[in-house]
Amino acid sequence: MLLSWLAAATVLERPGRRRARSALKFLRFDPGSCCFPSPLVSPLPETPAWPSPARWSTPPARYSSANHFRHFTRGRYALREAFRLAGIGRHGVLLAPAYHCVTMLDPALALAADIHLYPLQADLSPDQAALESLLASIQKPVKALLATHYFGIAQDFSHLKAWCIDHDIALIEDCSHVLLTERFRASGTGIHGHFVTASPYKFFACADGGLLYAADAQRLDPVATTPAPLIEELRGLKNAVERSRGRKLPSGSSPSIDERLEFLSARKLDLGKDPLIDRDGPSSLFSVAAATTSSLRSSRFVVDHSSIDDNIRRRRENYQRWLRTVAAVPNCHALFPMLPADCTPYMFPLHIDHPNPHFHWLKHLGVPIWRWDEMASSTCAISLDYRLHLLHLPCHQALTESQMDWMTAAFEKTLRHVAKGVQ
Ligand SMILES: Cc1ncc(COP(=O)(O)O)c(C=O)c1O
Repeated sequence: MLLSWLAAATVLERPGRRRARSALKFLRFDPGSCCFPSPLVSPLPETPAWPSPARWSTPPARYSSANHFRHFTRGRYALREAFRLAGIGRHGVLLAPAYHCVTMLDPALALAADIHLYPLQADLSPDQAALESLLASIQKPVKALLATHYFGIAQDFSHLKAWCIDHDIALIEDCSHVLLTERFRASGTGIHGHFVTASPYKFFACADGGLLYAADAQRLDPVATTPAPLIEELRGLKNAVERSRGRKLPSGSSPSIDERLEFLSARKLDLGKDPLIDRDGPSSLFSVAAATTSSLRSSRFVVDHSSIDDNIRRRRENYQRWLRTVAAVPNCHALFPMLPADCTPYMFPLHIDHPNPHFHWLKHLGVPIWRWDEMASSTCAISLDYRLHLLHLPCHQALTESQMDWMTAAFEKTLRHVAKGVQ
């Protein structure tokens, strides 16, 4: 048989039996001393967009039957199961993209596996030639390759899948940034991976949600999850109600964006720290105890009953709005200036020329920005550059017109603001 994952499926790492492996070094931006305020707008949707009540009893049809899916609280735990089923562990190596967030590697670190990072091209597609020479240099059996559709922009993984099959490697298709649920799958995604993982909580106003999908449902037979206790269900509902009240933008009496920028540019910035650290286990964002708990029923209800059409439409509109805004702004460029048809964006990735001071000013203004500034170090020049220069800006469906107005204005003014001592 071409792939022998099921034989390895029941192998779980036992605590205390870690063997020495090539430890990864992580670059970790530590903003502790910067005193950034909380963002004034939520980076993820917090208010559900319900369809008309008449449709609540009949959610849209599934694209595949329920036995092709397993539910987790986060995508990272779905990844852990995919890695485990693929044979990742002390004896099986993972190939992972050099541009990543820590939760993409945590599951493999939790399985005590060796991870080798493969380089990416500027559009975040795998560098196939570099992948080939990387594979040739690895002594141990390579069991899986993780490939990501970043920011919801579908990559064509058909060649990668053929390459994986030729080398007896499981392709794990990371759809964490893709609109993928039991009932909907964004075009061109979730079709190539032997295992597919997703993070519905990034697309819907729900407390949690991670999904593992396999086109061959038998591959999921060894995966068992436990339902969340009732107290967690109740806590999830309470949090959902609290979060749906939303956050407040600065009122008319608060200092304006221009005044804040004048103030910020007149003082010396604390730039935080950016050390290189060793790590041979998962980060604090990974909980072994939560690894096999299934997502809350209330979260699945929200995913199943929210309006997919509105979700897609609003996200696309907000993405286009960001594109129009940044087209005329200096010191930055959109990573994907064309939004492909059929694509539902997760966030708007924007490359900035001068993280110091622009990233810092934006954070001080309260603009919701994510950036993967904690990343395992590699030889990939693109990932090294994107770690500090690539900002992830929200474009989700729950953003109001005034929130978009405020964020785009804050962005435009900040990037235009004349910086003294830009590095
Ligand atoms: C591309 C990608 N893959 C996987 C993950 C892990 O997903 P989750 O947050 O659902 O655990 C993340 C987390 O942000 C991610 O950005």
